[in-house]
Amino acid sequence: MAPRPTALLSALRAVRRPRLPFSPQNLASLRLFTTTIGRRAPDLSADAKKIKLTSASYPDLQRDPRFTQLTERHVAHFKKLLGEAGVIDGVTRDATDDIQPFNEDWMRKYRGESRLVLKPASTEEVSEVLKYCNEEKLAVVPQGGNTGLVGGSVPVFDEVIINMSRMNRIHSFDEVSGTLVVDAGVILEVADQYLVERGYIFPLDLGAKGSCQIGGNVATNAGGLRLLRYGSLHGNVLGLEAVLPDGTVVDDLCMLRKNNTGYDLKQLFIGAEGSLGIITKVSVICPQRSSAVNVAFFGLESFDKVQQAFRAAKGQLSEILSAFELMDATSQRLVHDVRQTQKPLEGDHPFYCLIETSGSNGDHDYEKLESFLEDVMSREIVSDGVLAQDATQAKSLWSWREGIPECLGHWGGTYKYDVSIPLSDLYKLVEETQARMEEAGLVGNDDSYPVVGVVGYGHMGDSNLHLNVAVRRYDPSIEQVLEPFVYEWIQSRNGSISAEHGLGLAKKKFIGYSRSETMVGLMKNIKDLYDPNGIMNPYKYI
Ligand code: FAD
Ligand code: MLT
Ligand code: ZN
Repeated sequence: MAPRPTALLSALRAVRRPRLPFSPQNLASLRLFTTTIGRRAPDLSADAKKIKLTSASYPDLQRDPRFTQLTERHVAHFKKLLGEAGVIDGVTRDATDDIQPFNEDWMRKYRGESRLVLKPASTEEVSEVLKYCNEEKLAVVPQGGNTGLVGGSVPVFDEVIINMSRMNRIHSFDEVSGTLVVDAGVILEVADQYLVERGYIFPLDLGAKGSCQIGGNVATNAGGLRLLRYGSLHGNVLGLEAVLPDGTVVDDLCMLRKNNTGYDLKQLFIGAEGSLGIITKVSVICPQRSSAVNVAFFGLESFDKVQQAFRAAKGQLSEILSAFELMDATSQRLVHDVRQTQKPLEGDHPFYCLIETSGSNGDHDYEKLESFLEDVMSREIVSDGVLAQDATQAKSLWSWREGIPECLGHWGGTYKYDVSIPLSDLYKLVEETQARMEEAGLVGNDDSYPVVGVVGYGHMGDSNLHLNVAVRRYDPSIEQVLEPFVYEWIQSRNGSISAEHGLGLAKKKFIGYSRSETMVGLMKNIKDLYDPNGIMNPYKYI
């Protein structure tokens, strides 16, 4: 029997300890637990450790014969242009091990065969490199932190990798307007840390912040954990500088909030996933960092109650609400299986939510959040909940949400669907997918089953569900059950097949489920105009 709400409330009070005052310093530490996202080291067999070549997993994909094969002449040219520090050369010598991390994606699903990584250090170098590649018909893949989740950041065949990590300067910050200008290769967490010291916050935050780059964030129009509060990069990016395949530098590094003079061309690069050009600099408007951050974590017995809680949170926490994240029971069970740390709540609940508030008055915000929790508990919307008493507890609660992607990959891999659907239907997709997996006899606890679990989590505040299927191995039989089922399901609800991760290679052929022929036709026209030789990130996007 579910415990009475009053008993839960006293349990909630019982865990309360003296609170640490929130200051910009401990706010900083609040988010700093997101350490560098490196290669995960799951306990896999030697066979499973090897990522299959993309060309072997998807034999229908063929190398485009229009593209030139790299030769020593090309490499000599690049070395002259960028110096030894700017070139990892696997053409004139065996550099397989050095190039491997650039060829493989974070999900361990896609592996290309590039033999050349270029690391330009300035816009001029990017321009020279692209101009030459365009003239020589060398296909390229722009690469930031390589944390993308749709196979967009690694080559499919032998494309030249243009890695942006050496373009990592913070150029300027206006402490009055909050305008930050950075190179594309600046790591998100580095930019955010720089802003912390000045009382500001980067308007985007995500679990990969220790590795992803601002150029990659803009190129994918990343959404993240606080879009609910700060909005999308389409609104926050004030300007950018980008290089077109023919070497033209598009200087639209505007720092103005308002600018209605002509088409807003920078928007084309936001979310273009490197298909039109390479972003080299970005100016972004950053909000003032809130001096008070509070976090609550609670369990609920149905998705209907999750929706009621969301409505109540919007009504009662209104302007201080900065995140409303959803996690289902399976996601939390799998995180627990991997980490074996103490769960935030006793017992199991079908759903969990994490709420964060960010405001300017700690006590006032805390009271608001507490009375919200008291209200939803007394109305039996929420079954149990905890409120973080300090930054360490807040960080620990966040880890149950942010740790999901990494923990899901523990067994071998994850099929990822990142979708937008009207809220009322959001979780049905997980239930129906789970039923299909069971029907197909693919899901089970021991190693003979390829599927470990079907999981739903995501950004409830943005109607953005992450349907994930954690697997012991990538297997066409699983993919056949999932596709096109998931896409048809989304289409029938007028949803989006890519809410925040983009199209990359994974979603390229499914774009028609969310975009009309006319829209896709216009996109192709734009692609042809900007990149007539098709050298920019081929085989992906459209
Ligand atoms: P990469 O992965 O290197 O590249 C991504 C795409 O952008 C590729 O197509 C690449 O060609 C292109 N690109 C990169 N840099 C440039 C450039 N300078 N110019 C032009 N094109 C470029 N995403 C979200 O939206 N929300 C989340 O909450 C979120 N959480 C994540 C959590 C984890 C643990 C992980 C691993 C990933 C998460 N992601 C999330 C996905 C990923 O982190 C984002 O897509 C991120 O923005 C990618 O940045 P990156 O620098 O790693 O880009
Ligand atoms: C998240 O919200 O955690 C990210 O988008 C990553 C993922 O979907 O796995
Ligand atoms: Zn997400």
